[in-house]
Amino acid sequence: MITIYKEKDYEGMSRRAANIIAAHVILEPASVLGLATGGTPVGTYQRLISMYNDGDLDFSEIRTVNLDEYCGLDGTNDQSYRYFMDTNLFKHVNIDIDNTNVPDGRNTDAKAECLRYDTLIEDLGGIDLQLLGLGGNGHIGFNEPDSAFAKHTHCVTLKKDTIEANSRFFDRPEDVPTKAYTMGIGTIFMAGRILLIVSGEGKADILKEALEGPITPAVPASILQLHPDVTIVGDEAALKKLSDKLIYSL
Ligand code: PGA
Repeated sequence: MITIYKEKDYEGMSRRAANIIAAHVILEPASVLGLATGGTPVGTYQRLISMYNDGDLDFSEIRTVNLDEYCGLDGTNDQSYRYFMDTNLFKHVNIDIDNTNVPDGRNTDAKAECLRYDTLIEDLGGIDLQLLGLGGNGHIGFNEPDSAFAKHTHCVTLKKDTIEANSRFFDRPEDVPTKAYTMGIGTIFMAGRILLIVSGEGKADILKEALEGPITPAVPASILQLHPDVTIVGDEAALKKLSDKLIYSL
């Protein structure tokens, strides 16, 4: 089942998404949160930090697993997703850094790293709430459009459009790594609850395709149509092409 919240703008989207995550943290203080990187979740993390600073959230028992990481980047590299998480959330709240997990981009043994990550998620008892952004080509995590849904954590070769989209964070486009480790669609799908956040007109077409089009690995996010508990929080611009009947709350 999919519930969609429509918010006025990025700020509203971030506030709503943070409130949903905060509810999990309050109700289940030892939750396993699946986290995401990219431009979309930055505001959500800022709101979580504010709530923590106000004394309303305690992350001391929270465990986290991130969706993905670039291959070849060390966690101290400011373009790595480990660095992103440390600087955008972890360093600002009372989470135990040993309880935070990101695939190890330095591990050149892809098979071993992917197996390690899947085993780790299993050992944590699975993901309670998975936060997702939506790629312009319909990817979730780094599960790129493909001919089949990948079940487990795997190493992907990034598509040209993803490299182009992510080059905005790098000095030069050729600096964007071409490979990444990502949770599989199967890994993501096992999460108890999924929270997808989307902002901006640039995501309107792909969001409509993902939610109203056929379920196909060519649009990886379309698999969310089958998940029993999906919450989507979007701003007006991102949701503007969806059929109104899908939208739960204004
Ligand atoms: P964005 O990326 O939040 O930077 O738009 C989303 C994604 O690629 O998953």
